Amino acid sequence: MDKFSKPLSKDLANLRGKNFISCADLSFDEITSLLELSSQFKNNLRRIDLGNRVLGLIFSKASTRTRVSFQVAMARLGAQTIDLSTQTTQLGRGEPIKDTARVLSRYCDALAIRTFGNEELLEYAKWSSVPVINALTDLEHPCQALADFLTIQEEFGKLEGLTLSYVGDGNNVANSLLLLGVSLGVNIRLACPKDFEPPASIVEKAKTINHSKSSIQIFNNPYEAVLGSNVIYTDVWASMGQEQEQLQRKEAFKGFTIDKDLIDQAVPEVIVLHCLPAHRGEEISDQVFESKFSRIFDQAENRLHTQQALLAALLGGL
Ligand code: CP
Ligand code: NVA
Repeated sequence: MDKFSKPLSKDLANLRGKNFISCADLSFDEITSLLELSSQFKNNLRRIDLGNRVLGLIFSKASTRTRVSFQVAMARLGAQTIDLSTQTTQLGRGEPIKDTARVLSRYCDALAIRTFGNEELLEYAKWSSVPVINALTDLEHPCQALADFLTIQEEFGKLEGLTLSYVGDGNNVANSLLLLGVSLGVNIRLACPKDFEPPASIVEKAKTINHSKSSIQIFNNPYEAVLGSNVIYTDVWASMGQEQEQLQRKEAFKGFTIDKDLIDQAVPEVIVLHCLPAHRGEEISDQVFESKFSRIFDQAENRLHTQQALLAALLGGL
């Protein structure tokens, strides 16, 4: 064994064979160990070979970053992916998830699912005998949040005590940021137009896992929310599946654009994040997107490193 190959830590070994459905699934120690392994992969300090194992990608929605980063992460682990979709499988002709999940578990070593209703993901998890990974549902985007907090940690050298303000729709990305953020001791502020706040069930869940007692605040005014923040984060106003609400949402979200005026309220060394894809001129101005405050492409890169770490843990190591 060379110095780059060594067994996984106890916290990561505990994740072997488990699902990753929600940010609330992970303990503080598991998250910090995943972030550490991600950094090791990023800096070429660690080598893990998953042999000829196979990850099935079942995506019912478009994806650039998530799909490609899973494919490249598996390639870097010496393993493979199979690209599946409702169009190319019998899912599109009505074969039930409970049958599909049992069959695909006999071929694949893990399944990454991108779909609409979170209950579909839970149905896969119920019937699959191999780990199921949430590659985005309408409720959560946990793989995104892992990359987001790695990016923040790289910037500030720590997470605990920082303040992250999410400005925009209380959507899947916001929900996962909230759940992972409070686990890590980050103060989370959410600024959403009235009736676009995250679901009460997610906020309640976040309060129950908030061991470090970081604060959770919800605002309807983005200027109040970003005062003194270290990180400002946004996402599209209309998510995949909400295309028909685009115009109505554009109206409801007036005043929630991340522009230079808004970031001037934060600390001078504030960073701006966006999970991408972005609609410049809506949730973020082109000026801010392209500014020195943006860490958006580092964040996108980190999808690869954090998913490589996640796969290494769920698929069990060396
Ligand atoms: N951020 C993200 O998940 O991007 P994709 O939709 O391109 O996968
Ligand atoms: N909230 C967005 C995130 C895309 C990565 C969506 O669900 O479309």
